[in-house]
Amino acid sequence: MSNLVVLGLQWGDEGKGKIVDLLAKDFDVFVRFQGGANAGHTVRFADKHFALHLIPSGILHPGKICILGNGMVVDPFALLAEIEGLEQQGVAVGANLFLSDRAQIVLPQFQLLDQAREEGAGPIGTTGRGIGPTYEFKTSRLGVRACDLVHDKALRERLGMILPPLNFLLEHYYKKKPIPAEAVLGKLLEAGSKLKGYLADTCELARSFSGMGKRILLEGAQGTLLDLDHGTYPFVTSSTCTIGGALSGSGLNHRDIHACMGVVKAYTTRVGLGPFPTELKDALGEKLRARGNEFGTTTGRPRRVGWLDLVALRQAVRLNGVETIALTKLDVLDELSDIQVCIRYREHGTELTSLPAGEESMDRLVGEYIVLPGWQQNTCGVRAFDDLPRQARDYVRFIEDFLKVRAVLVSTGPRREETITAL
Ligand code: GDP
Ligand code: IMO
Ligand code: MG
Repeated sequence: MSNLVVLGLQWGDEGKGKIVDLLAKDFDVFVRFQGGANAGHTVRFADKHFALHLIPSGILHPGKICILGNGMVVDPFALLAEIEGLEQQGVAVGANLFLSDRAQIVLPQFQLLDQAREEGAGPIGTTGRGIGPTYEFKTSRLGVRACDLVHDKALRERLGMILPPLNFLLEHYYKKKPIPAEAVLGKLLEAGSKLKGYLADTCELARSFSGMGKRILLEGAQGTLLDLDHGTYPFVTSSTCTIGGALSGSGLNHRDIHACMGVVKAYTTRVGLGPFPTELKDALGEKLRARGNEFGTTTGRPRRVGWLDLVALRQAVRLNGVETIALTKLDVLDELSDIQVCIRYREHGTELTSLPAGEESMDRLVGEYIVLPGWQQNTCGVRAFDDLPRQARDYVRFIEDFLKVRAVLVSTGPRREETITAL
């Protein structure tokens, strides 16, 4: 009776891949419900290292079902490459994978538009994977859906509506070489024929699994502060990475969702541009980046690094109805003598209890910190809470108390086994 949503509570890269992999043994079905190949979820165990972009991390566990839900934006070529890569690493992909027939398809033209905009005024620092334009065309009711890839006539008609104005924009405004329909039609149909076996009405499928009492885990991508509505707009992704997206993007209803777990990094990172109140732009930030190996899983970009921001996290906890968290990368803080944690914001001296809407206010706000003592001992790979130094235990308890949540997992290294599971 317990289906679980696992969401990032910061700006992504909290370690969702590792946590989902760790929880996988207790679930039967895994659903991604938003985003696309902008995500990069890392899973490590034994001598294996996987970076998943579209497929839920449950795929690494034999006998589990994985679903790419209707809320996703799927680049069919990236999906085929991911399937091939997994097979080369010895992971079976076949009857265990389903792609929603309603998922939106990322066209090469959408990627070109995404990249062209990033070169112009007001870049966001996107991953360049075409995510924004694909959601934009979806909302304009001009998208291509996975079901269209297996119908020559339907696909031609869709492309005939979408591409003339889009190519005009690319050519005449962005000065890019347009990509005509003929250049993609054949390739899309070919990808469609390869993906046909995976296509399904995944909403009905997920519903029937739920009805059968199978346990479902919904794997979020990105993070709450990148959410289109609730994040640091306009420096956000174009999907709903918060709890609402789990329903609309999977076809499950509120009665199918029993709990929501937040994944929280023990400090904060962000890739791309936008406000970051607790950012460390100094040597300490660089040290944490190096120790935490904070480089994007998808783009390889260095991640910006900063202190834990409990104000933004409290907002994320409330928004998603989170009761439990998995705290990751505690080991990255091992060498610090003092650890700062942001517990309050002020703008012109007035206290703010959450992130403000306006970009200017966000830039103006000043964080107030509490200093907690570091432990300056190695915690890499620690597997029992009582084996953590006292200061590390206090750090975890402080976070729990402030956020009014229970930490049920603490991660002390990238590998599956480097985790504290009983607190
Ligand atoms: P996701 O997008 O939320 O799945 O996170 P990413 O996989 O993009 O980034 C998390 C990174 O931290 C990956 O390289 C993980 O292997 C690594 N990682 C996860 N948990 C821990 C941890 O507890 N300690 C350390 N040192 N690394 C971790
Ligand atoms: P996972 O699932 C971190 C960021 C980009 C950029 C903004 C918009 O691995 O946590 P987009 O390409 O989505 O239009 O870019 O969102 N971004 C992520 N940052 N982790 C991710 O995914 C991200 N996916 C997108 O860097 O700032
Ligand atoms: Mg990631």
